[in-house]
Amino acid sequence: MDIDAELDAALDRLPAERLPVLLRTMPKAELHIHIEGSLEPELIFTLAARHGLPMPAPTVDALRAKYAFTDLQSFLDIYYAGASVLLTEEDFFDLASAYFARAAADRVVRAEVFFDPQTHTSRGVPFETVMRGLERAAADAERTHGMSVAYILCFLRHLSEQDAFDVLDEAEAHLANWPRMIGFGLDSSERGNPPEKFARVFTRCRALGRHIVAHAGEEGPPEYIHAALDVLRAERIDHGVRCLEDSALVERLVRERIPLTVCPLSNYRLRVFDRLSDHNLDALLRAGLCATVHSDDPAYFGGDINENFVQTFAAKPELTARDAFHLARNSFAASFATTAQKDAWIEALRASFLAAAG
Ligand code: HPA
Ligand code: ZN
Repeated sequence: MDIDAELDAALDRLPAERLPVLLRTMPKAELHIHIEGSLEPELIFTLAARHGLPMPAPTVDALRAKYAFTDLQSFLDIYYAGASVLLTEEDFFDLASAYFARAAADRVVRAEVFFDPQTHTSRGVPFETVMRGLERAAADAERTHGMSVAYILCFLRHLSEQDAFDVLDEAEAHLANWPRMIGFGLDSSERGNPPEKFARVFTRCRALGRHIVAHAGEEGPPEYIHAALDVLRAERIDHGVRCLEDSALVERLVRERIPLTVCPLSNYRLRVFDRLSDHNLDALLRAGLCATVHSDDPAYFGGDINENFVQTFAAKPELTARDAFHLARNSFAASFATTAQKDAWIEALRASFLAAAG
């Protein structure tokens, strides 16, 4: 995608000190957010009280203090425990509504939201309870915030193929009347759970005519990214930051324009990179990859999508206004919205950069 001469000049003259505000106010799409990962400690306490459950810690601050992770698994253990207070349709409505309000304030105009039904059905919460709460919140967000919302059902890769087929059976029963459910993804413990484990599940997902995405190359090796593309036929890779270890893979991702939904604060908090300044976001962009920036699990990783942008740009001075424009435009290009929607959002994005350049 080209940049016209007027925008090109604006990007050249945009003062660096205007960048933090622009990062917050530019329109953007959130393509990598786990709704269960948006569950703030305050809401955990509210829901525990609503259901007469034991409090997970003496205070909200004490709970937040437990969010010190050493790797993906150490996070997932706490993340699944946190989700155990989600029981009723109202709970899922409140969870998603709180996320949409925060996202709207961050100028997210399109959200493609992951949800993990197995985290709930395994505790006896019916699939339909989850779906109804999320759907009601999405309809509400579209009305009140003018945001466009879609859902992507993620399978938990640490569970069995049969378990995935079981939840797919439930989802299929609702799909015809659920236009916002646009795709299927794969998340949870990556190492030791390669994409091949779910080859047959995703063959069935593809036959349903929905989109396919997969977490790969977060902690797992570049081979898992190859397998997500070859075996699952993923259209986007979630994280994918380890692709730089394999130059043939990078060439392929560039050639096939496969987007990578990158979550810098997540990678930092889960020790994929020791420091935020070590993150390879700039290298991904310089390699010509279609990288985007997202929040993953904002309640656990210390920041929503705007914090991911602002903190990463602050930690990496090599990132420029031009990179900010490309990252936001990539988020629209990589979304599963219609071409007309994408064109309108990219035009609004262009206008926000022209206005900031003065
Ligand atoms: N990786 C894998 N599974 C997840 C993540 C993640 O970053 N967040 C929530 N589930
Ligand atoms: Zn994720």
